[in-house]
Amino acid sequence: MDGRTVFTSRQEIELAISAARLQGKSIGFVPTMGALHEGHIALVKRAVLECEYVVISIFVNPTQFNNPKDLELYPRMLEKDVDMLKDFNNVVVFAPTVDQVYPSNDSFPGVDLEGLDAVLEGEFRPGHFQGVVHVVYNFFQIVQPDFAYFGLKDFQQVAVIEHMVRQLELKVKIIPCPTLREKSGLAMSSRNLRLTEQQKSDALIIHATLNAMVQKAIELTPNEVAEFARDLFNSGQLKLEYLEIVDPHSLQKLSNQWVKGAVCCIAAFCGDVRLIDNMLIKP
Ligand code: PAJ
Repeated sequence: MDGRTVFTSRQEIELAISAARLQGKSIGFVPTMGALHEGHIALVKRAVLECEYVVISIFVNPTQFNNPKDLELYPRMLEKDVDMLKDFNNVVVFAPTVDQVYPSNDSFPGVDLEGLDAVLEGEFRPGHFQGVVHVVYNFFQIVQPDFAYFGLKDFQQVAVIEHMVRQLELKVKIIPCPTLREKSGLAMSSRNLRLTEQQKSDALIIHATLNAMVQKAIELTPNEVAEFARDLFNSGQLKLEYLEIVDPHSLQKLSNQWVKGAVCCIAAFCGDVRLIDNMLIKP
């Protein structure tokens, strides 16, 4: 099987996966919303290295979009996506319809995110992470993966999924993978397709700010670094939604004390395109 094999029905992919299991193959899973770019492909490459049978889902999940306009404008290009996967072996694509993912007998038990969804993205995108854990749980039920690959580009998403896995005692192991960037420093994202060249250049302020913060963090407190960074960011063209330095586990804001692994998370509008990025500030 190669990446050209596309399943749209839940029953068919479940059959294919159980056949792979019967052959003793380890199952890897890479959930995506399509409009694939090198960031997604890096996850696929890692999964293919580590697992014998890899499922890539391509599904624009309506329940995680709090903004209907964003859902409508989200790029969809299944044929092109499948083409990008054609050279991978032992890879199949699952591109289901909404009713395949959310059947009438949906068994999602719910997850108490214990405040992880109240901060950062959660504050500005109410309901977003409940939509994410719901869809990822349902996919985990279908795919039953041994390993699931997620990008640290969505730092909070990784924290939320890891929390779900612990709380529901799911058997899957979550593998966080580094953020892929354009040579310019811009984090790869399906939403970048909606940026003009000028906007792509304006968006470099995100990476520039994050980089500058790493240096400043050597001498200043988290509060001071955040204040410096907001000023720097606001000298550019983007409209900042939030810039916070947080504890990597609780995602709570840091003020006067650093912790190991402190991360800065940024969300900003570039025109009407909302971009997010983050960086490890205290290794
Ligand atoms: P999507 O935005 O398509 O991203 C799919 C996966 O690719 C996520 O784990 C994301 O973190 C990762 N990714 C995106 N850009 C990346 C980059 N530049 N470098 C490395 N990894 C990157 O995230 C989602 O979809 C959805 O929320 C999903 C988990 C599929 C649930 O619907």
